[in-house]
Amino acid sequence: MKRNEVETAVFLALNAVQKSYNGQTALEPLSLSVNAGESIAVIGPSGSGKTTLLNLMAGVIQPDSGAIMLGGRELSGLRPGGELSRLVGVIHQQFDLVPQLSVLHNVLAGRLGDWGLVQSLLSLVWPRERHVALQALERVGIQEKAAERAARLSGGEKQRVAIARLLVQDPQMIIADEPVSSLDPARAEDILDMLTGIAKERGKTLIASIHTLDISSTDISSSYFSRVIGLREGRVQFDLPMHELSQRRLTSLYRLPLRVEKETSVGVPADS
Ligand SMILES: Nc1ncnc2c1ncn2[C@@H]1O[C@H](COP(=O)(O)OP(=O)(O)O)[C@@H](O)[C@H]1O
Ligand SMILES: [Mg+2]
Repeated sequence: MKRNEVETAVFLALNAVQKSYNGQTALEPLSLSVNAGESIAVIGPSGSGKTTLLNLMAGVIQPDSGAIMLGGRELSGLRPGGELSRLVGVIHQQFDLVPQLSVLHNVLAGRLGDWGLVQSLLSLVWPRERHVALQALERVGIQEKAAERAARLSGGEKQRVAIARLLVQDPQMIIADEPVSSLDPARAEDILDMLTGIAKERGKTLIASIHTLDISSTDISSSYFSRVIGLREGRVQFDLPMHELSQRRLTSLYRLPLRVEKETSVGVPADS
């Protein structure tokens, strides 16, 4: 039946999802669906709603209205840390590792799904899962740093640890909120290459918000992402195959409000 065909392909569906903070709209009612295995870049100026959208998709925050289906289930009904952590894993711009713990311990935390449990359960998890964590560290190329404290790593290395932790968690979808914005351009390209490569090789759905300055060459971004969603002022301005993203659309997405344009000649505002 047609309905079932659609259901098997769609992994994530937002239906008229809306979010405000203190009466201020952050995201206008938005509907979209994401197929399993899709790799999507979400772009837009600072304050356009990227983090809000990604947090909604990851079940980190709840919409004011509308429904989100993830893996055929109502997202709001999924148990955090359990079912939810098998469906979705999150990676942030700020490398949210525990700085005083070793790299290996940080990676092992991916098994637990719930940071509240981390400290108490690490000793139990350690022997059984150690090889899984070491394999993940090998995949991201920093196996030799396993015993190092996370605080001592460079930004690029920290993001590799965060990716290794996701590998250990092994969710079906990865949500990455500006995963490379704290890195220099060469490092950013490395990490994007790794993140999108891992998603592709393991058939994972990937949704990443990216500052356009990180992917200024659309040649590069096309090889990373198949689809691009442009957000502006809480609205989807375009939702396209990545190869259809033009300079004209980018310029329009990042254009300054008229009022500000009179006061400054800066072209593309830096994102936060
Ligand atoms: N926790 C919050 N409380 C109040 N306002 C918020 C909060 N988070 C985001 N906003 C507002 O919602 C809008 C969208 O923010 P955000 O989703 O963080 O955009 P982006 O990630 O694209 O910079 C902005 O106007 C921002 O100020
Ligand atoms: Mg943001």
